[in-house]
Parts: sequence; structure tokens; C-alpha cells
Amino acid sequence: MEKFICSRCSRSYPIDPIRWRCDCGSPLDLEFIPKFPIKKFLKRAPTLWRYREAIPILEDDSILSMGEGFTPLEEMDFDGRRILLKIDYLFPTGSYKDRGATVLISKVRELGIGKVVEDSSGNAGSAIAAYCAKAGIECEIYVPQSTSSGKLVQIQTYGSTLKKVKGSREETAQAAVEAASRTYYASHCWNPFFLHGTKTFAFEIWEQLGWKSPDVLVLPVGHGTLFLGAYIGFKELKEAGRVKSIPKLVGIQSSACAPLYRAFKKGLEDIQPIEKKETVAEGIAIARPVRGRQILEAIRETGGEMMTVTEKEIQVAMEEMGRKGYFIEPTSAATIAGLKRYLKRKEKKDIVVSTLTGMGLKATEKIAHLQF
Ligand SMILES: Cc1ncc(COP(=O)(O)O)c(C=O)c1O
Ligand SMILES: [Zn+2]
Repeated sequence: MEKFICSRCSRSYPIDPIRWRCDCGSPLDLEFIPKFPIKKFLKRAPTLWRYREAIPILEDDSILSMGEGFTPLEEMDFDGRRILLKIDYLFPTGSYKDRGATVLISKVRELGIGKVVEDSSGNAGSAIAAYCAKAGIECEIYVPQSTSSGKLVQIQTYGSTLKKVKGSREETAQAAVEAASRTYYASHCWNPFFLHGTKTFAFEIWEQLGWKSPDVLVLPVGHGTLFLGAYIGFKELKEAGRVKSIPKLVGIQSSACAPLYRAFKKGLEDIQPIEKKETVAEGIAIARPVRGRQILEAIRETGGEMMTVTEKEIQVAMEEMGRKGYFIEPTSAATIAGLKRYLKRKEKKDIVVSTLTGMGLKATEKIAHLQF
């Protein structure tokens, strides 16, 4: 039987709609044993739900799907080096967050919950709002007032209640936590069912590489839901004897907001509070990542690292990707800028996978302000 287990003090709890963190204040993980019957996977449609036995939803009837996942893994050349890019803006709401939302909202439905609250820099909010709309679940989304208008319009179009908070991303989270004392907290940062959706990123890469893991993953990190999802996915595959190793995890942050980079460089176990500056990469502008300690642990365990990129590098990457035919969010351009830096010193034989997490149409007014 599944249960929650504290990421810090290992206390365990039954799956309970009210509980969203441990009594010690730390985020909860999910104890769950996945299965990997490859022959069954291969008979199913190309969506992330083909890995059904590895996703912690009890009943098939609870599953809420919009045909999401199994995104293309495209070969690309950067400065003469070959890499693979997972095109994760090809999701129903235009970002990879649908991986987490389809699983989390399926669980919400399974638990018989009729109303949820979430806070977000915009994309996770859009994903949760869309799946709630599909399920007929009421939903309230808290976002910072500075969020790109494309994302705000998207959240409202799905019919959820949009709460714009005058203040930072952190103040937005605080407002949602207060509301969560009355409603289910469908938080992409706190709720471990979200990570058991984002982990399908790893399963898809595993299948697309011929049931192997790559050597390196270069990923954006704000709260780290893709980063930790990829880690959990490959760890589950390793524990099941399906891959030999977990890829080296390389995290990219903006130099304007880099709490994990700083903590990693100082060799700290957890992040320290930082003052964040303005960045066009709004999706990764997170000063206090909820699962900071777990992200740092995953980096060290896999021999990975954190890197930062400047606003200028983000702008250059945005333009370069546009000229290759990819209209992406500035947050995704930050990942590409980090990838370019990483490739300068990569081992030639390494298989490197990175990703495009968000579609440019969500942030057109911010992109319009970049001078190409
Ligand atoms: C397009 C995009 N990429 C990457 C991220 C980073 O995700 P996380 O905060 O889970 O690390 C976000 C988060 O909002 C995003 O919107
Ligand atoms: Zn605890």
C-alpha cells in the first residue's frame, strides 16, 4: 500500500487529503513500488500513461488524460556537438507541467476531492487548471501579478479562479498555503504525486534510447519538479534493474536567482535565503525551492552540478533557437544557454539530453522586449 514518507525525518503517514507536509515541516515523498512490464508498454498508445504500472494511481477509472506525453526526442547540433532535445512544450497546455498535472489531478479525483488550490509562476497553474476543468473539479490558482499575461489568460480560460498576488513568488506561495488550510493543496512543489508524473520524462527517454539511460541530463531548475522527477524515474529504473546508472544531473538557474547554484558551490546541504533580481526566465525565478535539500542530494549522488546563465546568454539562446525554428519561453532559452556552456567541456562520447519545457506563445510580450 502506498504511503507518504518524510524526505527529512522518515516519519510515515497514510495518504490523506489534508496532509501536505510532515509535522517537521519538510516535504513528503511517496513510498511506491513501480513495475516495468515492457511488453505491455509497447502495446499501448504513445502517451505517458503507457507506463501505467509505474504510476501510482489505483484504479484505471480515475485516470484523467488528454493524450499527453511521449514527446519527440530530437537530434540537434550545437556548436558542432550532437545532443538530444526532448520537446516538452508539446503538451496540451504548452509546457511539461502536464506530466505532473495529469497524475496529480487523477489522484485528486481518486480521493474524491471537489476543490483544490495551487500557486505557480504560471505554467503549473495552467496545467492544474486545465486538468481540473476536464475533471469538473473547482480550482483556485495563485500567481504573482508580474506573470506573463498569456499564462493568466490561459488559467482564466480554463475557468479557474485566478488570484493575482501583489508581491513575489514567495508571497504568492504564502497566500496559497493559507487558502490550503481550507482546501486540498494541489501544489506542484509539495505534492509528491506531481513528481510521480514528471518522472515519466525519464521513462520516455529510457524507451526512446532503446531502453538505456543517457550519460547526462541538462535541465532547468526552479522548484526542481522536472529535475527531481527525472531523478526519481531513473532511480526507479535502476532499482528495478532496468538501467545500469542514473544520468549525471546538471541543473541550470538564472544568475539573477540561483540559490541552488550558490549552495552547491559552497558544499551546503540546504539552500540559504537569497535576494533575487529580475530575470526574463520567470519559470525558474524561485528564491526558496521547497525541495532544495533533495535537489542538492540528487546532484551529488549522480556526480552532477549546477550552472548559471546571464540575461544576455538567455537572450542569445532565445534568438538562436528561433532561427532553428523553435519558439520557446525565455525559461527554456535559459536551459539552452546552460547547455551551450556545458557542451564546451563535455566528454565527446557522452550522450547528453536536454529539453524545451515551455512554448514561446505563453510569453510573447516578454519576448517582444528582448532586442534581437
Ligand atoms: C517553462 C518552464 N520550464 C521550467 C520550469 C522549472 O520547473 P521547476 O520549478 O519545477 O524546476 C518552469 C516552472 O514554472 C517552467 O514554467
Ligand atoms: Zn519530517
